[in-house]
Amino acid sequence: MRRRIGGEVQSAQSKVPEIKRVYDFLLEKEKTSAPSSSPYVEFSKGVNGLEKVILRESRGSSAEVYLYGAHVTSWKNDHGEELLFLSSKAVFKPPKAIRGGIPICFPQFGGLGTLDQHGFARNRFWTIDDDPPPFPTNTLSKAFVDLILKPSEEDSKNWPHSFEYRLRIALGPGGDLMLTSRIRNTNSEGKPFSFTFAYHTYFSVSDISEVRVEGLETLDYLDNLQNRDRFTEQGDALTFESEVDKIYLSTPTKIAIIDHEKKRTFVVRKDGLPDAVVWNPWDKKAKAMADFGDDEYKYMLCVEAAAIEKPITLKPGEEWKGRLELSAVPSSYCSGQLDPQRVLQGS
Ligand code: BG6
Repeated sequence: MRRRIGGEVQSAQSKVPEIKRVYDFLLEKEKTSAPSSSPYVEFSKGVNGLEKVILRESRGSSAEVYLYGAHVTSWKNDHGEELLFLSSKAVFKPPKAIRGGIPICFPQFGGLGTLDQHGFARNRFWTIDDDPPPFPTNTLSKAFVDLILKPSEEDSKNWPHSFEYRLRIALGPGGDLMLTSRIRNTNSEGKPFSFTFAYHTYFSVSDISEVRVEGLETLDYLDNLQNRDRFTEQGDALTFESEVDKIYLSTPTKIAIIDHEKKRTFVVRKDGLPDAVVWNPWDKKAKAMADFGDDEYKYMLCVEAAAIEKPITLKPGEEWKGRLELSAVPSSYCSGQLDPQRVLQGS
């Protein structure tokens, strides 16, 4: 008996070089061939033949990510309901950024200086990151994709810095959508760089006049409609009856967007992103945007986890991490009133 076991070990050992050869071959093949799909991650073509990745979780939730802009264009719950707003007039063609979903604003939020409005990450072709360094906060998710952006020669002319931007987009088993950005300064001449940043999330809402935002009361904000002057928000939850474009400063890590009509609450959790932009263009600005329907402002609200007031500075070799986690939960009612505190405390 003992001999037989020994024999098996011996024959397995003799197969080791062959197993290693097959393993090396498969590894090499995986590196050179197109990424293969799985039940959780499907590689596909989207509008205008642009490459996209579909993430699916076993309970039915899903998300779609275009490699163009590393742009999440869809996030659906396990009933197949769309949770993000995407304009019916969105243009899926470079150099235009896709209107809706989650554009990535980097290396700049806004339109200051020589860089394009909201930077260039949202209108560059990202690639699949085959070999990302390990994630310290790994999720249990099998539905995720790793993307990477490095500057082109053109980018380096406009923004003379070397960087590696790694983005993991993951769908949790319960349908939560998680985006983790890791930006590293790879300058070899010892130069630091600074940037501002936002996950420019467009939430889908039933009717903007039925929406409240909790978590930003009494905070200071910069008003983009008034030369970025500084004001302090009043004590009530935010409601909407005209154009809004504000950068709330040093916000809590959790914000709730309560859609009264849909009885749905979005919970935004963020890490490494102190600010939060709240934007709705309302009717006049909506009409002025070619890639946005005249009435679509009623069905969207942007709440953007961001780092704007204090730019992030990285020395060579340093890495910054900024994480966004989105959940959509049924709103709780308490004697006819929404009770967002329960949502916030109970999560
Ligand atoms: C918001 C800004 O985040 O994005 C607004 O606060 C801006 O000022 C809006 O109008 C849309 O920007 P863009 O470049 O996508 O049209």
